[in-house]
Amino acid sequence: MNKITQLFKIKYPIIQGGMIWNSGYKLASAVSNAGGLGLIGAGSMYPEVLREHIQKCKKATDKPFGVNIPMLYPNIEEIMNIVVEEGVKIVFTSAGNPKTWTSFLKSKGITVVHVVSSSVFALKAQEAGVDAVVAEGFEAGGHNGREETTTFTLIPMVKEKIQIPILAAGGIATGRGMLAAMILGADGVQVGSRFAASLESSAHNNFKDTILSTNEGGTQLTLKELAPVRLIKNKFYNDVQALYETCPSKEELITLLGRARAKKGMFEGDLEEGELEIGQIAGLIHEILPVEQIIQQMMTEFEAACEEKTKFEF
Ligand SMILES: Cc1cc2nc3c(=O)[nH]c(=O)nc-3n(C[C@H](O)[C@H](O)[C@H](O)COP(=O)(O)O)c2cc1C
Repeated sequence: MNKITQLFKIKYPIIQGGMIWNSGYKLASAVSNAGGLGLIGAGSMYPEVLREHIQKCKKATDKPFGVNIPMLYPNIEEIMNIVVEEGVKIVFTSAGNPKTWTSFLKSKGITVVHVVSSSVFALKAQEAGVDAVVAEGFEAGGHNGREETTTFTLIPMVKEKIQIPILAAGGIATGRGMLAAMILGADGVQVGSRFAASLESSAHNNFKDTILSTNEGGTQLTLKELAPVRLIKNKFYNDVQALYETCPSKEELITLLGRARAKKGMFEGDLEEGELEIGQIAGLIHEILPVEQIIQQMMTEFEAACEEKTKFEF
């Protein structure tokens, strides 16, 4: 048992990060059934769709699971009420101020975790009363901090500032990565990209196949003026770069981004015009695997690496 397995009543300290268009109830329940903690990603769901996924998740697993709620969500109040009505026990909030919803969720007996990209925000989250933080480095897939702090530097800096449990996120897809993060001070890990390329992810197969062919250097953090996001370098990404050459206004960037790009790319499989969000670690993902196998491989490698680390000789 460690702080994270105790907090969530799970077997392994591996959290599957909430991921728009990837993490519906099938992925979340598969991760929970395999001993980790699965999160339904509310960010791409209308309120009633979220309710349906929560209800299906309850049927698909008797293990703990949670919901990730990016707080920029326009129907945020409705979403929070659904989570409470459906008896969800764990909520991971992101993209917003942890003060806004933490006390409401805690008053309903919900365990609250907030995603941060700096030690300053980690401290604010702790002050807001969350139970743990996800410290997410610049390598991560999806939306990201502006300051470009890598996981390797972020975790010890967060550890220095706060006392509550820390989940490391960004660039972790293997047991060795997990061990490294824990040696740096994390109590567990949140993994996104590796699970996006799983059998149970709801993403389109075109997107999953593209993850496998994305190599080192194949992603870049962009659109910092809007909401920084790490994307695969496809046609849409190149269009964004071409627009940057003209020193565009924020409005021009918003116009190019348009609406529903992420859905188009990751859910509908439009590899040219869609937004394809993935982390730098895609370069190490070579197979689409069932969740259970991913978690077993991570844990086997983690345990072997723990043994090995006592054998350094100089
Ligand atoms: C396709 C994709 C979608 C994501 N969507 C969300 C989201 O809706 N909310 C959120 O808090 N984080 C989101 N993330 C971040 C993940 O939850 C996780 O923290 C991150 O992927 C960890 O880094 P990794 O990709 O290197 O494993 C997303 C990541 C990916 C790859």
